[in-house]
Amino acid sequence: MLRRLHHTQPESFAFTPDNLAWATAQLTKYPEGREASAIIPLLWRAQEQEGWLSKPALEYVADMLGMAYIRALEVASFYFMFQMQPTGSVAHVQVCGTTSCMICGAESLIAVCQEMIAANPHDLSADGKFSWEEVECLGACSNAPMVQIGKDFYEDLTPEMLRDILTRLGKGDVPLPGPQNGRYGCEPAGGPVVLGEGNNARADHNGSVQIASDIGETVKRIVGTEVPLTAPWTDRGGRPRNDEAAPVEFMTAAKQAAAEKKAAKPAEKKVAPKVEDTPASDVAEKKPRTMKAPRKAGADDLKQLKGVGPKLEETLNELGFWHFDQIAKWGAAEIAWVDSRLKFKGRIERDGWIEQAEKLAAGEETGFSARVKKGKIY
Ligand code: FES
Repeated sequence: MLRRLHHTQPESFAFTPDNLAWATAQLTKYPEGREASAIIPLLWRAQEQEGWLSKPALEYVADMLGMAYIRALEVASFYFMFQMQPTGSVAHVQVCGTTSCMICGAESLIAVCQEMIAANPHDLSADGKFSWEEVECLGACSNAPMVQIGKDFYEDLTPEMLRDILTRLGKGDVPLPGPQNGRYGCEPAGGPVVLGEGNNARADHNGSVQIASDIGETVKRIVGTEVPLTAPWTDRGGRPRNDEAAPVEFMTAAKQAAAEKKAAKPAEKKVAPKVEDTPASDVAEKKPRTMKAPRKAGADDLKQLKGVGPKLEETLNELGFWHFDQIAKWGAAEIAWVDSRLKFKGRIERDGWIEQAEKLAAGEETGFSARVKKGKIY
Protein backbone atom coordinates (compact mmCIF):
# COMPACT_ATOMS: atom_id res chain seq x y z
CA MET A 1 0.00 0.00 0.00
CA LEU A 2 1.29 3.42 -0.88
CA ARG A 3 1.62 5.63 2.14
CA ARG A 4 1.45 9.19 1.01
CA LEU A 5 -0.39 12.40 1.80
CA HIS A 6 -4.11 12.15 1.25
CA HIS A 7 -5.48 13.93 -1.81
CA THR A 8 -7.86 16.04 0.31
CA GLN A 9 -6.30 18.08 3.07
CA PRO A 10 -7.72 20.45 5.68
CA GLU A 11 -6.70 24.12 5.68
CA SER A 12 -4.86 24.06 8.96
CA PHE A 13 -4.02 22.23 12.16
CA ALA A 14 -3.28 23.36 15.70
CA PHE A 15 -3.07 21.48 18.95
CA THR A 16 -5.84 22.22 21.42
CA PRO A 17 -4.49 24.18 24.42
CA ASP A 18 -4.47 21.00 26.51
CA ASN A 19 -2.65 19.00 23.88
CA LEU A 20 -0.22 21.86 23.30
CA ALA A 21 0.59 21.95 27.01
CA TRP A 22 1.13 18.18 26.96
CA ALA A 23 3.30 18.35 23.85
CA THR A 24 5.39 21.15 25.31
CA ALA A 25 5.93 19.11 28.44
CA GLN A 26 7.14 16.17 26.36
CA LEU A 27 9.99 18.29 25.03
CA THR A 28 11.42 18.53 28.53
CA LYS A 29 12.30 14.82 28.29
CA TYR A 30 14.97 15.45 25.69
CA PRO A 31 18.28 17.31 25.76
CA GLU A 32 18.47 20.73 24.18
CA GLY A 33 18.82 20.51 20.44
CA ARG A 34 17.32 17.02 20.42
CA GLU A 35 13.66 18.02 20.45
CA ALA A 36 13.18 16.03 17.24
CA SER A 37 13.26 12.89 19.40
CA ALA A 38 9.72 13.75 20.44
CA ILE A 39 8.40 13.29 16.90
CA ILE A 40 6.54 10.02 17.48
CA PRO A 41 4.62 10.97 20.63
CA LEU A 42 3.71 14.35 19.15
CA LEU A 43 2.52 12.86 15.88
CA TRP A 44 0.56 10.30 17.84
CA ARG A 45 -1.10 13.05 19.86
CA ALA A 46 -1.95 14.93 16.67
CA GLN A 47 -3.53 11.73 15.34
CA GLU A 48 -5.46 11.22 18.55
CA GLN A 49 -6.80 14.75 18.18
CA GLU A 50 -7.85 14.52 14.54
CA GLY A 51 -8.11 10.78 13.91
CA TRP A 52 -5.41 10.91 11.22
CA LEU A 53 -2.33 12.88 10.18
CA SER A 54 -2.98 15.64 7.69
CA LYS A 55 -0.28 17.66 5.92
CA PRO A 56 -0.93 20.72 8.13
CA ALA A 57 -0.61 18.49 11.21
CA LEU A 58 2.73 17.09 10.02
CA GLU A 59 4.01 20.60 9.30
CA TYR A 60 2.77 21.90 12.64
CA VAL A 61 4.58 19.17 14.56
CA ALA A 62 7.72 19.55 12.42
CA ASP A 63 7.74 23.29 13.13
CA MET A 64 7.40 22.65 16.86
CA LEU A 65 10.44 20.38 16.74
CA GLY A 66 12.53 22.48 14.33
CA MET A 67 12.52 19.69 11.76
CA ALA A 68 12.26 19.68 7.98
CA TYR A 69 8.72 18.76 6.89
CA ILE A 70 10.02 15.83 4.87
CA ARG A 71 11.52 14.27 8.02
CA ALA A 72 8.14 14.34 9.73
CA LEU A 73 6.52 12.84 6.63
CA GLU A 74 9.18 10.11 6.56
CA VAL A 75 8.33 9.09 10.12
CA ALA A 76 4.58 9.23 9.57
CA SER A 77 4.69 7.28 6.33
CA PHE A 78 7.06 4.63 7.74
CA TYR A 79 5.02 3.57 10.75
CA PHE A 80 1.72 1.95 9.93
CA MET A 81 0.22 3.06 13.24
CA PHE A 82 -0.03 6.50 11.69
CA GLN A 83 -3.07 6.97 9.53
CA MET A 84 -2.39 9.02 6.42
CA GLN A 85 -6.06 9.39 5.48
CA PRO A 86 -9.24 10.27 7.38
CA THR A 87 -10.58 7.50 9.60
CA GLY A 88 -14.07 6.78 10.87
CA SER A 89 -15.39 9.31 13.37
CA VAL A 90 -16.48 6.48 15.71
CA ALA A 91 -13.89 3.80 15.07
CA HIS A 92 -11.16 2.54 12.82
CA VAL A 93 -11.22 -1.27 12.79
CA GLN A 94 -7.90 -3.06 12.39
CA VAL A 95 -8.35 -6.68 11.39
CA CYS A 96 -5.38 -8.96 11.97
CA GLY A 97 -4.78 -10.97 8.82
CA THR A 98 -1.64 -12.85 9.84
CA THR A 99 -1.24 -16.63 10.09
CA SER A 100 -3.17 -17.62 13.25
CA CYS A 101 -5.97 -15.20 12.58
CA MET A 102 -6.10 -16.10 8.91
CA ILE A 103 -6.35 -19.81 9.71
CA CYS A 104 -9.08 -19.11 12.26
CA GLY A 105 -11.27 -16.95 10.05
CA ALA A 106 -9.80 -13.46 9.52
CA GLU A 107 -11.04 -13.48 5.96
CA SER A 108 -14.64 -13.76 7.11
CA LEU A 109 -14.07 -10.79 9.46
CA ILE A 110 -12.71 -8.79 6.54
CA ALA A 111 -15.83 -9.72 4.58
CA VAL A 112 -17.95 -8.24 7.39
CA CYS A 113 -15.93 -5.02 7.24
CA GLN A 114 -16.35 -4.88 3.48
CA GLU A 115 -20.07 -5.40 3.81
CA MET A 116 -20.75 -3.07 6.77
CA ILE A 117 -18.08 -0.39 6.31
CA ALA A 118 -16.61 -0.09 2.83
CA ALA A 119 -15.46 -2.37 0.05
CA ASN A 120 -11.87 -1.15 0.26
CA PRO A 121 -9.65 -0.70 3.29
CA HIS A 122 -9.17 2.92 4.41
CA ASP A 123 -12.35 4.08 2.72
CA LEU A 124 -14.90 5.65 5.03
CA SER A 125 -18.32 4.10 5.53
CA ALA A 126 -21.19 5.99 3.91
CA ASP A 127 -22.03 7.71 7.20
CA GLY A 128 -18.38 8.50 7.91
CA LYS A 129 -18.47 6.64 11.22
CA PHE A 130 -16.20 3.70 10.39
CA SER A 131 -13.14 2.71 8.41
CA TRP A 132 -11.14 -0.51 8.42
CA GLU A 133 -7.84 -2.00 7.35
CA GLU A 134 -6.00 -5.32 7.50
CA VAL A 135 -2.96 -5.28 9.76
CA GLU A 136 -0.12 -7.61 10.65
CA CYS A 137 -0.07 -9.77 13.79
CA LEU A 138 -1.25 -7.82 16.82
CA GLY A 139 0.19 -10.32 19.28
CA ALA A 140 -3.05 -11.95 20.37
CA CYS A 141 -2.58 -15.08 18.27
CA SER A 142 -3.93 -17.43 20.92
CA ASN A 143 -7.22 -15.56 20.73
CA ALA A 144 -7.48 -15.60 16.94
CA PRO A 145 -9.21 -14.26 15.01
CA MET A 146 -9.24 -10.80 16.43
CA VAL A 147 -9.50 -7.10 15.65
CA GLN A 148 -8.27 -3.96 17.35
CA ILE A 149 -10.78 -1.17 17.67
CA GLY A 150 -9.54 2.02 19.31
CA LYS A 151 -7.30 0.96 22.15
CA ASP A 152 -8.75 -2.49 22.69
CA PHE A 153 -8.68 -5.99 21.31
CA TYR A 154 -11.85 -7.92 20.47
CA GLU A 155 -10.83 -11.55 20.37
CA ASP A 156 -12.12 -15.04 19.56
CA LEU A 157 -14.45 -13.48 17.04
CA THR A 158 -16.95 -14.92 14.65
CA PRO A 159 -18.39 -12.85 11.79
CA GLU A 160 -21.67 -12.55 13.71
CA MET A 161 -19.88 -11.22 16.77
CA LEU A 162 -18.03 -8.59 14.76
CA ARG A 163 -21.26 -7.62 13.04
CA ASP A 164 -22.88 -7.12 16.44
CA ILE A 165 -19.92 -5.12 17.78
CA LEU A 166 -19.99 -2.75 14.80
CA THR A 167 -23.74 -2.32 15.06
CA ARG A 168 -23.50 -1.47 18.74
CA LEU A 169 -20.61 0.94 18.24
CA GLY A 170 -22.65 2.67 15.54
CA LYS A 171 -25.42 3.20 18.09
CA GLY A 172 -23.04 4.74 20.59
CA ASP A 173 -22.55 1.66 22.78
CA VAL A 174 -19.12 0.57 23.93
CA PRO A 175 -19.09 -3.24 23.70
CA LEU A 176 -16.89 -5.05 26.18
CA PRO A 177 -13.57 -5.92 24.56
CA GLY A 178 -11.52 -9.07 25.17
CA PRO A 179 -12.40 -12.67 24.28
CA GLN A 180 -15.94 -12.83 22.94
CA ASN A 181 -16.41 -16.58 23.41
CA GLY A 182 -16.46 -16.64 27.20
CA ARG A 183 -12.75 -17.17 27.72
CA TYR A 184 -11.21 -15.16 30.53
CA GLY A 185 -7.85 -14.67 28.85
CA CYS A 186 -6.01 -17.10 26.62
CA GLU A 187 -6.56 -20.26 28.69
CA PRO A 188 -7.60 -23.44 26.84
CA ALA A 189 -11.13 -23.35 25.47
CA GLY A 190 -12.15 -26.04 27.96
CA GLY A 191 -11.02 -23.99 30.93
CA PRO A 192 -7.73 -23.55 32.79
CA VAL A 193 -5.83 -26.71 33.68
CA VAL A 194 -3.19 -25.06 35.86
CA LEU A 195 -3.17 -22.29 38.45
CA GLY A 196 -6.78 -23.16 39.25
CA GLU A 197 -6.44 -22.28 42.92
CA GLY A 198 -6.40 -18.54 42.49
CA ASN A 199 -9.34 -18.41 40.15
CA ASN A 200 -11.83 -17.60 42.87
CA ALA A 201 -10.03 -14.37 43.70
CA ARG A 202 -9.83 -13.07 40.17
CA ALA A 203 -11.68 -10.04 38.84
CA ASP A 204 -14.66 -10.39 36.53
CA HIS A 205 -12.47 -9.93 33.45
CA ASN A 206 -8.80 -10.23 32.57
CA GLY A 207 -6.55 -7.24 33.32
CA SER A 208 -6.93 -5.09 30.22
CA VAL A 209 -10.58 -5.95 29.72
CA GLN A 210 -11.33 -5.10 33.34
CA ILE A 211 -9.74 -1.68 32.90
CA ALA A 212 -11.60 -1.09 29.64
CA SER A 213 -14.82 -2.13 31.36
CA ASP A 214 -14.17 0.07 34.41
CA ILE A 215 -13.39 3.21 32.46
CA GLY A 216 -15.59 2.39 29.48
CA GLU A 217 -13.50 4.34 27.02
CA THR A 218 -12.32 1.88 24.33
CA VAL A 219 -12.77 4.05 21.22
CA LYS A 220 -12.47 7.37 23.03
CA ARG A 221 -9.44 9.28 21.84
CA ILE A 222 -6.98 11.11 24.06
CA VAL A 223 -7.99 14.77 24.30
CA GLY A 224 -5.24 16.14 26.50
CA THR A 225 -7.23 16.63 29.68
CA GLU A 226 -6.16 13.30 31.09
CA VAL A 227 -4.09 13.18 34.24
CA PRO A 228 -1.17 13.62 34.39
CA LEU A 229 -1.24 16.36 31.82
CA THR A 230 2.14 17.82 32.63
CA ALA A 231 5.56 16.27 32.88
CA PRO A 232 5.76 14.98 36.46
CA TRP A 233 9.53 14.71 36.26
CA THR A 234 9.90 18.45 35.92
CA ASP A 235 6.56 19.90 36.96
CA ARG A 236 6.65 21.70 33.67
CA GLY A 237 3.74 21.64 31.35
CA GLY A 238 3.99 24.76 29.24
CA ARG A 239 1.29 26.19 31.49
CA PRO A 240 2.34 28.94 33.86
CA ARG A 241 2.15 27.62 37.39
CA ASN A 242 -0.45 29.15 39.74
CA ASP A 243 -2.38 30.45 36.76
CA GLU A 244 -4.41 27.68 35.25
CA ALA A 245 -6.58 30.04 33.24
CA ALA A 246 -3.70 31.77 31.52
CA PRO A 247 -3.28 30.98 27.83
CA VAL A 248 -0.68 28.36 27.09
CA GLU A 249 2.44 29.67 25.48
CA PHE A 250 4.67 27.31 23.57
CA MET A 251 8.06 27.17 25.23
CA THR A 252 11.04 25.04 24.52
CA ALA A 253 12.50 23.32 27.55
CA ALA A 254 15.46 25.67 27.51
CA LYS A 255 13.31 28.76 27.27
CA GLN A 256 11.15 27.59 30.12
CA ALA A 257 14.16 26.74 32.27
CA ALA A 258 15.57 30.21 31.56
CA ALA A 259 12.24 31.83 32.47
CA GLU A 260 12.10 29.89 35.73
CA LYS A 261 15.68 30.76 36.56
CA LYS A 262 14.94 34.41 35.91
CA ALA A 263 11.83 34.30 38.10
CA ALA A 264 13.76 32.64 40.94
CA LYS A 265 16.49 35.29 40.99
CA PRO A 266 16.23 37.91 43.74
CA ALA A 267 15.77 41.46 42.46
CA GLU A 268 19.16 42.89 41.68
CA LYS A 269 20.29 46.45 41.72
CA LYS A 270 20.04 47.72 38.18
CA VAL A 271 23.37 48.18 36.51
CA ALA A 272 23.63 49.31 32.92
CA PRO A 273 24.63 46.17 31.03
CA LYS A 274 27.58 46.07 28.71
CA VAL A 275 26.51 45.58 25.12
CA GLU A 276 27.98 42.09 24.95
CA ASP A 277 26.21 41.06 28.18
CA THR A 278 22.80 42.26 27.07
CA PRO A 279 20.30 39.51 26.21
CA ALA A 280 19.52 39.51 22.47
CA SER A 281 15.86 40.31 23.07
CA ASP A 282 16.64 43.54 24.98
CA VAL A 283 19.00 45.17 22.51
CA ALA A 284 18.25 47.15 19.41
CA GLU A 285 18.40 45.02 16.32
CA LYS A 286 21.05 45.57 13.71
CA LYS A 287 21.07 43.77 10.42
CA PRO A 288 24.28 41.78 10.03
CA ARG A 289 26.18 41.77 6.75
CA THR A 290 24.39 39.40 4.44
CA MET A 291 25.31 37.88 1.10
CA LYS A 292 23.10 37.21 -1.90
CA ALA A 293 24.84 33.93 -2.63
CA PRO A 294 27.63 31.80 -1.18
CA ARG A 295 31.23 32.42 -2.20
CA LYS A 296 32.59 30.61 -5.24
CA ALA A 297 34.04 27.78 -3.14
CA GLY A 298 30.52 26.97 -2.00
CA ALA A 299 28.50 27.44 1.16
CA ASP A 300 29.62 26.08 4.50
CA ASP A 301 27.61 23.24 5.95
CA LEU A 302 25.80 25.24 8.61
CA LYS A 303 24.32 22.03 9.98
CA GLN A 304 27.68 21.56 11.68
CA LEU A 305 26.44 24.14 14.17
CA LYS A 306 24.65 22.48 17.05
CA GLY A 307 20.97 23.38 16.84
CA VAL A 308 20.94 23.98 13.08
CA GLY A 309 19.02 21.38 11.13
CA PRO A 310 18.28 21.32 7.38
CA LYS A 311 15.27 23.60 7.75
CA LEU A 312 17.08 26.16 9.83
CA GLU A 313 20.03 26.08 7.44
CA GLU A 314 17.62 26.86 4.62
CA THR A 315 16.22 29.79 6.60
CA LEU A 316 19.70 31.12 7.32
CA ASN A 317 20.60 30.87 3.65
CA GLU A 318 17.43 32.73 2.74
CA LEU A 319 18.39 35.47 5.18
CA GLY A 320 21.79 35.76 3.47
CA PHE A 321 24.05 33.67 5.71
CA TRP A 322 26.15 30.99 4.07
CA HIS A 323 29.43 30.92 5.96
CA PHE A 324 30.69 30.33 9.48
CA ASP A 325 32.75 33.53 9.46
CA GLN A 326 29.59 35.56 8.81
CA ILE A 327 27.97 34.10 11.92
CA ALA A 328 31.14 34.40 13.98
CA LYS A 329 30.99 38.19 13.54
CA TRP A 330 27.53 38.66 15.02
CA GLY A 331 27.37 40.80 18.14
CA ALA A 332 24.39 41.24 20.45
CA ALA A 333 22.52 43.58 18.06
CA GLU A 334 23.05 41.26 15.09
CA ILE A 335 21.98 38.25 17.14
CA ALA A 336 18.81 40.12 18.09
CA TRP A 337 18.12 40.82 14.38
CA VAL A 338 18.53 37.20 13.36
CA ASP A 339 16.76 35.88 16.45
CA SER A 340 13.66 37.91 15.68
CA ARG A 341 13.47 36.18 12.30
CA LEU A 342 13.70 32.63 13.61
CA LYS A 343 10.73 30.63 14.84
CA PHE A 344 12.41 29.45 18.01
CA LYS A 345 13.98 32.45 19.62
CA GLY A 346 16.97 32.28 21.92
CA ARG A 347 18.44 29.35 20.01
CA ILE A 348 21.55 31.25 18.87
CA GLU A 349 22.74 31.95 22.38
CA ARG A 350 21.40 28.78 23.90
CA ASP A 351 23.29 26.58 21.47
CA GLY A 352 26.37 28.83 21.37
CA TRP A 353 26.40 29.40 17.62
CA ILE A 354 28.91 32.25 17.79
CA GLU A 355 31.54 30.24 19.67
CA GLN A 356 31.00 27.26 17.41
CA ALA A 357 31.12 29.42 14.27
CA GLU A 358 34.39 31.04 15.41
CA LYS A 359 36.02 27.62 15.72
CA LEU A 360 34.63 26.28 12.47
CA ALA A 361 35.57 29.45 10.59
CA ALA A 362 39.13 29.00 11.88
CA GLY A 363 39.19 25.46 10.44
CA GLU A 364 38.83 23.79 13.82
CA GLU A 365 36.24 21.20 14.75
CA THR A 366 33.72 21.08 17.55
CA GLY A 367 32.57 17.85 19.15
CA PHE A 368 29.24 18.30 17.39
CA SER A 369 30.68 19.06 13.94
CA ALA A 370 32.93 15.98 14.19
CA ARG A 371 29.86 13.82 14.77
CA VAL A 372 28.03 15.46 11.87
CA LYS A 373 31.00 14.73 9.59
CA LYS A 374 31.04 11.11 10.67
CA GLY A 375 27.40 10.92 9.65
CA LYS A 376 26.25 10.24 13.19
CA ILE A 377 23.92 13.24 13.14
CA TYR A 378 21.70 14.09 10.24
S1 FES B 1 -1.88 -13.69 14.00
FE1 FES B 1 -3.52 -12.40 14.59
S2 FES B 1 -2.87 -11.64 16.48
FE2 FES B 1 -1.20 -12.85 15.82
